Amino acid sequence: MPALPLIIDTDTGSDDAVALLLAAASGLGDIRAVTTVAGNVPVAIGTRNALISLEIAGRSDIPVHPGCERPMIRTLSSAQHVHGEDGMGDTGLPDPAKAPEPGHAIDALLSYPRDHPGELTLVTLAPLTNIAAALLRDPALFTRYRHVYCMAGAADTRGNISPTAEFNVWADPEAARIVAQAATPDKVTWIGWDVSRKDAVMTPADQQRLQQIGTPMARFAHRINRTVADWVRDVTGLAGYDLPDPIAMAVALNPGLITEQEEAHVDIAVGDEARGQMLIDRRVVAPAPNMTLVRRVDEAGFKKLLFDTVAAPVPVPASAPTIPATP
Ligand code: BDR
Ligand code: CA
Repeated sequence: MPALPLIIDTDTGSDDAVALLLAAASGLGDIRAVTTVAGNVPVAIGTRNALISLEIAGRSDIPVHPGCERPMIRTLSSAQHVHGEDGMGDTGLPDPAKAPEPGHAIDALLSYPRDHPGELTLVTLAPLTNIAAALLRDPALFTRYRHVYCMAGAADTRGNISPTAEFNVWADPEAARIVAQAATPDKVTWIGWDVSRKDAVMTPADQQRLQQIGTPMARFAHRINRTVADWVRDVTGLAGYDLPDPIAMAVALNPGLITEQEEAHVDIAVGDEARGQMLIDRRVVAPAPNMTLVRRVDEAGFKKLLFDTVAAPVPVPASAPTIPATP
């Protein structure tokens, strides 16, 4: 199967970084460009982290375009209390060798699919600010992509940043609403935190396996998730840290991993009390569905893809940061 041509929009924190490894080093993805946005961390830090992650995967040739510095109308509320001040578990990673591109993320999101109509798959792993801004300039943008996969929302309304909302949608709910209103179920698929919580939890045994693999990518993936592991234990009560962006990326790379999905009409709450909550209308009289919601994924298949990818002996350039072997 030919590798899937991808554009990836990310607020690169520790789980985005693992998703980038999957896209860059599994053999299933062909990343044409990465765009970054404020979210987990300020956009300059997320851009740095994206460049580091691609370098670890041996792909520092991939262009990284910095994007919006804040949500559409709100101030930025980062997730540095989850992913660390540096977004990468406060691991003190050295600077990447490569610099970001001069072109803005919004221009990249608009121009790549214009140059390659119907060819590219867009995967979003972050607040939807860049995507909404691009849609305001080109309302038909989604028709120009082959498909759009978003790690966004919580289709069971069990939130991770509030009682009912998932971080990427909560961080910029107005942007998420613009995306939902432009979506159609044949083009747009959301993979929410409900899927991550059920099918992408790295149990202590999984974490030990990742650590024992011992390759540069495996050590990197293990180390950068250490602050997330503490937060997930204390706040969500899951039996290990979960990997929302990697499971969304795995679905985009291999939709055969989906075991349950539905089409539904989705809107986003923008009021204060329910900020960022998905409003899913499943009534008989509901408007026509506007997106596909993935509800369950083959957990074993996802973890096999993850372990196989990070175990691969990717040729790491001499300039790549060294990840110490100690935990
Ligand atoms: C999402 O929020 C971020 O913290 C993660 O990187 C992921 O994109 C999960 O809710
Ligand atoms: Ca993310």
